[in-house]
Amino acid sequence: MIKFAPSILSADFNVLGDQVAQTARAGAPYVHIDVCDGSFVPSISFGMPVVKCLRKTSDLFFDVHLMTVHPEKFVRPFAEAGADSITFHYEAAADPGAVIASINEVGKKVGMAIKPQTPVEAVIPFMHRLDMLLIMTVEPGFGGQKYLPKSTGRIQEARRLFQEEGLDIDIQVDGGIKLDNVDVVLDAGANVIVAGSAVYNDDVYGSTLAFMDHFAAYEASH
Ligand code: DX5
Ligand code: ZN
Repeated sequence: MIKFAPSILSADFNVLGDQVAQTARAGAPYVHIDVCDGSFVPSISFGMPVVKCLRKTSDLFFDVHLMTVHPEKFVRPFAEAGADSITFHYEAAADPGAVIASINEVGKKVGMAIKPQTPVEAVIPFMHRLDMLLIMTVEPGFGGQKYLPKSTGRIQEARRLFQEEGLDIDIQVDGGIKLDNVDVVLDAGANVIVAGSAVYNDDVYGSTLAFMDHFAAYEASH
């Protein structure tokens, strides 16, 4: 099943709650929440207080993408702030298995992310313990970058790997996804689609709806 996850990194934070509500009204089930720490990635975005505020008025699925060093430190705080799933970077974790265990402990869905240079095989030791694999389709850190074409083969590789193991794990893609290239990642095997600038740099309701309509048509024809 395709799930749409608009990324608030490109939102207008002055009216954040209202914009998230527009994505909900247009039918998006997820909010993709990019936490940038200024260390794992160059920029700083926002932290727990913002998630906590959004949680007050939204019952969407909060998909927290931790682009932080020491992800183990942030699992519980983001769970308490209202996250439904927590995705950490493989590259940032000294012990990815321990981070997975700590996400299990707080009862949230487990996501692991890999950057464009990280071999897909890195997930093999952990794949049985994941709800979602996030394959970065740009270098993490900023919205508005171009989709890296080599990502397509990486998505296919991950989907093949999971199928061989009989695992039905969500594959999320994040970075440079627009209406005009989303079929490439869907065809490759991704099913959780992040889009930041394609939603938030435009009419938020209208562009979310356009993606939702596109996904409905895609599912109807596959
Ligand atoms: C990038 C973030 C993305 C970003 C995507 O590091 O993880 O979620 O917001 O933005 P677009 O869709 O504009 O590439
Ligand atoms: Zn992200």
